[in-house]
Amino acid sequence: MEAAEQVALVTGGAKGIGLAIAKRLVKQGMTVVINAHREPSAEAWAEIQAGNPKLSYLVGSVADEAEAETMIAAVMTKFGRLDVLVNNAGITRDKLLSRMSAADFNAVIQTNLVGAFNMTKHAMKVMQKQRSGNIVNLASISGLNGNIGQANYAASKAGLIGLTKTAAKEGALRGIRCNAVAPGMIATAMTDKLSDRIKTEITKQIPLHRFGEADEVAQTVAFLISNPYITGQVITVDGGLTI
Ligand SMILES: NC(=O)c1ccc[n+]([C@@H]2O[C@H](COP(=O)([O-])OP(=O)(O)OC[C@H]3O[C@@H](n4cnc5c(N)ncnc54)[C@H](OP(=O)(O)O)[C@@H]3O)[C@@H](O)[C@H]2O)c1
Repeated sequence: MEAAEQVALVTGGAKGIGLAIAKRLVKQGMTVVINAHREPSAEAWAEIQAGNPKLSYLVGSVADEAEAETMIAAVMTKFGRLDVLVNNAGITRDKLLSRMSAADFNAVIQTNLVGAFNMTKHAMKVMQKQRSGNIVNLASISGLNGNIGQANYAASKAGLIGLTKTAAKEGALRGIRCNAVAPGMIATAMTDKLSDRIKTEITKQIPLHRFGEADEVAQTVAFLISNPYITGQVITVDGGLTI
C-alpha cells in the first residue's frame, strides 16, 4: 500500500471542471485519483497527467453501484484512506419537458443523482470508519432555479442539493462534511455544444459578461474542502447570472 497524504477521488475527472479540480487539489499537495468514464488512450492520459505525477485514474461509471463500490475499494487498497470525494460526473440531455423522453429523463437522473448517491454511499462507509472526510457535489444554478429545456438536469441537480444537505447532517457526527457548488455557465465541452447564437444571448444576461473558467469552479471546491466549519451549503459560481 502506498503511503499517502490526503487522498481525493474526483468523478468524471478526465476533462472539464473535474480535471481542473483534480489539478488544483494536486497543487495543494493531495494525491488525486480521477474516475475516468472510459479508458483513456496512452496519449490522452499523458496529456491529462502532464506535470501532475500525483494523478492516477480508475475507469468506471458512477451510474452503476457495483462499479462505484469497486472504485472506492480500489482507492482503499492502493492508498488505505479516502479524504475527499468530489461528485463531478454529469451529463445533459436537453429538450422541452413536453418532448422529453422517459429515457432522456432517467439517463440524466441516473448519472447526475443516482451516480452521486452510489459514490457517496460507499465513500461514507469508509469516511465513517476514518471519522473524517469531505464530500463536494457539483450541482448547478439549474437545480436552484430550474431552466427551460432542462427538466431532467434541473431535477437531478435539485436532488443533488437535497442529498448534499442530508449527507452533511448524517456525516457531521463522524467528522464528515458535505457541500455543493452550483456553477452557472462554465466554458467546457458541456456548454460548447450550444450554438454561437445561444452563447452570445446567454453572455448578454451574465452580469460579469463572460462564461466562467473551469478553474474558477475548482477554486471554490478547494475552499469548501479547506474550511472546517462549512457544511450543508451550496455556493453559486455564476458571474451573477439569474436564470
Ligand atoms: N459547464 C457548465 O457550465 C456547468 C454548469 C453547472 C454545472 N456543471 C456540472 O459540473 C460537472 C462537470 O461538468 P463539465 O462542464 O466539466 O462537463 P464535461 O466536460 O461534459 O465533463 C463531464 C465528465 O463527466 C464524465 N461522465 C459522464 N457520465 C459519467 C459516468 N456515468 N461515470 C463517470 N463519469 C461520467 C464525462 O466522461 P465522458 O465524456 O467520457 O462520458 C466527463 O469526463 C457536471 O456535473 C455538470 O453538470 C457544469
